[in-house]
This record gives sequence, structure tokens and C-alpha cells, in this order.
Amino acid sequence: MSSGLATVSYIGATILFILSLGGLSHPESSRRGNLYGMIGMTVAVLATVFGPQVTAGGYAWIIGAMVVGASIGLYAARTVKMTQMPELVALMHSLVGLAAALVGFANYIDPAASSHLSGAEKVIHEVEIYVGILIGAVTFSGSIIAFGKLSGKIGGSPLLLPGRHWMNLAGLLVIIYFGREFIHAETISAGMMPLIIMTVISLLFGIHMVMAIGGADMPVVVSMLNSYSGWAAAATGFMLSNDLLIVTGALVGSSGAILSYIMCKAMNRHFVSVIAGGFGTGSGAPAKPSGEGAQPAGEVVSVNAAETAELLRDSKNVIIVPGYGMAVAQAQHTVYEITKLLREKGVNVRFGIHPVAGRMPGHMNVLLAEAKVPYDIVLEMDELNEDFPDTDVAMVIGANDIVNPAAQDDPASPIAGMPVLEVWKAKNSIVMKRSMASGYAGVDNPLFYKENNRMLFGDAKKMLDEVLVVLKT
Ligand code: TAP
Repeated sequence: MSSGLATVSYIGATILFILSLGGLSHPESSRRGNLYGMIGMTVAVLATVFGPQVTAGGYAWIIGAMVVGASIGLYAARTVKMTQMPELVALMHSLVGLAAALVGFANYIDPAASSHLSGAEKVIHEVEIYVGILIGAVTFSGSIIAFGKLSGKIGGSPLLLPGRHWMNLAGLLVIIYFGREFIHAETISAGMMPLIIMTVISLLFGIHMVMAIGGADMPVVVSMLNSYSGWAAAATGFMLSNDLLIVTGALVGSSGAILSYIMCKAMNRHFVSVIAGGFGTGSGAPAKPSGEGAQPAGEVVSVNAAETAELLRDSKNVIIVPGYGMAVAQAQHTVYEITKLLREKGVNVRFGIHPVAGRMPGHMNVLLAEAKVPYDIVLEMDELNEDFPDTDVAMVIGANDIVNPAAQDDPASPIAGMPVLEVWKAKNSIVMKRSMASGYAGVDNPLFYKENNRMLFGDAKKMLDEVLVVLKT
């Protein structure tokens, strides 16, 4: 393929990626957005493989790598459960970071990559390598820790080392110092030592940054690592002189940064404190594990499926608040069956979606769209939070942190300041979950003890099936 045709293909792929991002901004157009992304990626891969930078001897390596990568990808896509998606995404981010770091080292070692460069061009090339490896290493280790936290392999409470901000600052200064050493190094072997020291510090920084984040604040970190992985890809693009990788990386990097900003706003957190780590833990004390500290006052009243069905049937306005437990139970289809029945009986049913419900951005929207719930009754938290006082029943399905009044009432709570869905203001609230266990943030929920709250204990799908049977009679 001529370089002209490759460039045209790259421009076409870039346009498709932008259309894809546009499509993904709304559930209705998201399928189309995905399709644009897939076509764009196919064009990009073909244009790169058959482009002028690949010589005939490289095909065997590329095909071999693609077969291995595609097989793993296909296997993962087929076997991974919907609830495991966030950790899979975190793992994929780590691979982008690892690739950027490895490409950086390979590029530095390869004499053909820089032997023709001198003066300012050589310095720019070395800065690209240094920064590329830095971002790649932070993304890699940070994403591995995020994977551990999201999959429950690492505990959710933040690890707050004493003087952690000073440690971060010292790390940054050492990285800058060795950056200077690296650029002034006369030979490749002399430059290797500063490069390795910086890589180790970056890896430690990534681990430290994510370990210091408390449970409920993980969404911001996940979207931030998403952004980092984009910048890591862009840095790889600079090192390999691949324009498409630069543009694609910048698209992912900037959209991830915008998402992080939206998440910060939704969680009422400052963006800078996310990067510094350890935010969302009040005065800096680690989050109390569930069960410690003062037990919320009041009594827990449980109901059964038949009583729940009666309450729903007698209502005019119902708001359903889905959370992570709905995803675990795969209860979305039954939820929609109940919604349809109630709507047929003239009940106004709407869904209230918290920005960080579940374990990934848009998690609930995806599940409800899959169950074919009409988009016009699925509302964002801000759109209906004021309507709870006029609501007869707020039905909470497998949600916990996102409906925790402690976020408003308890300044010492690890989730203090996080906006929540005010379900306790409804005439009645029903919380559907299996036990009194806490949610992802590991904090007790005083909602369960409120006078107007009822608990429907059990697996959400099983309980909703029972509610549906009663509603049908
Ligand atoms: P959580 O606070 O995690 O609560 C989910 C509840 O679902 C649990 O308390 C659990 O209680 C219940 N549950 C689990 N399986 C169930 C089943 N089969 N049937 C019925 N209930 C079940 O979820 P949330 O309210 O959606 O809040 C999300 C949390 O995750 C926030 O803290 C958020 O910051 C964090 N987070 C979000 C994201 C994104 S981007 N959305 C990413 C990372 C972390 P039982 O065990 O008693 O059943």
C-alpha cells in the first residue's frame, strides 16, 4: 500500500473514531457508535499492516501476534460476565500502558530509530521516549491495582501512607532529575540507568496512587486510568511516528479526561486531589470497615414479595433505583416485566440512575437498554432527585452506596459529600438485597433503619420473579 493510500485510510479511520465517540454518547445511538468504531479499527489495522512501514519479513510476526491476541480477546469477550467488565477494562488499560513502556524501551535500544537524529530532533525523540515510558508505567501498575480492587482481590479501603504527598513530590523531582540525566547521556547504555530508575518510580507511583483511593471513589480513578491509557497510546504514536496512533490516543485521552471531570463533579470531588490520591476519606483517616463505629439507630423491618407487590399496585408514582446487585442478579428483564405491568395499570414508573451506580460508567443504562426499557423513563439522578417526596414507593434494587443518607448527614463518612438518590424522602422505600452487608465503599447504610423503609431480603432476580407472579394475579 502506498503511503498516500495509508494516509487517506488513517484519515478515514480517524473520522470513524470521532463518529463512534459521538454515537456512544447516547444509548439509542450506541450500537451505531460501536459499529463505526469496529469499522474504523479494521481500516486502521489493515492500513498499518499493509502500509509502508511494514516490510515483508515482519508479516509472520504480525500475523502470529494477531492470532494470539485475537484468540485471547475472543475468549475473554465470550466468557467474561457482565459484572466482570470493569475489571476486564482495567486489565486492558494496563496492557496499553505496558505496550507504551515496552515500545519506549525498544525504541531507545533500536539504533535505527534515532541514529539519523541530532540536536533538537534527538532531544525531542528522547523526551518522547521518557514521557511515553513514564505514562505507560503509571498506567500499567495503576490499572493492575484497579483490576485487583474492582475484582475484590485487593481490599477496598485506602492505603494512606504517612507523608504520602511528600513522597509523590519527591518521586516527581527524582523523575525530573533523571530525565535530565537521560537526555544528557552520551551512549545508550549510559541512558539506560536513568530510564530504569524512572520506570521503577513510575510503577511505584501508579501503585501508590490507586492504593490510596477509597472504595466509593474508584469510578473517578477508573476513568482517569482510561484517560492515561489514551495518552500512553498517543506517546507510542509519537515514538513510532504513527499519526493515527497519536490522534486515536488523544481522542481516548481527552474523552477519558472529560469523563473523569464529569465523574468528579458527580462525586463532588476535586480533580487534583484524585491525582494526588487518598481523597474521599474525610480527614485522611482510612474508611471504617462495615460494622465498626456507631450502629445506625432504628429497627429493620422486612417485607415479603406479596407485600411489596401490594405496595407497588397501590402506588401512583414509583421510582426504581437500580444498583450493582441488579447486575449481579441479572434482574433487569424481570424489572422491565414489572414496569410494563405497573404502567398498564396506570402507575407512573421511572428509573433513577446514579452516575456511579454499578461498577462502570453507564452500567445501569446498558443493562436497562438490554432489557428494552424505554429511554424516556430512565432519568439521571439530577432529573428526578427532587421528585422523591411526591413518590409513593422508591424501589431500590441491589443498590447501597448510591442511596446512603450518610453521604449527606455524616461529615466523617468516607462517602461524605457524594450526591446520592434521596429515596428516604419517598413515602415508602423498599430495599432489595440479600443481607445487611455494606456496599462497595464498606460503610453502613442508615437508610435500612428508617421508619418508612422496608427490606426485601433475597436475590433480586428471585424476589422480583415472586413480585411479578403476585402482580399478575
Ligand atoms: P454497592 O454500593 O456496591 O451495593 C450493591 C449492593 O447489591 C450490595 O450491598 C449487595 O448487598 C447487593 N447485592 C449484591 N448481589 C445481589 C443480588 N444477587 N441480589 C440482590 N442484591 C445484591 O452498589 P451501588 O449502590 O450500585 O454503588 C456503586 C458503588 O460502586 C459506589 O460505591 C461506587 O463508587 C462504586 N464503583 C462504581 C464504579 C462505576 S464507574 N460505576 C466503579 C468502581 C466502583 P447484599 O450482599 O446484602 O446482597
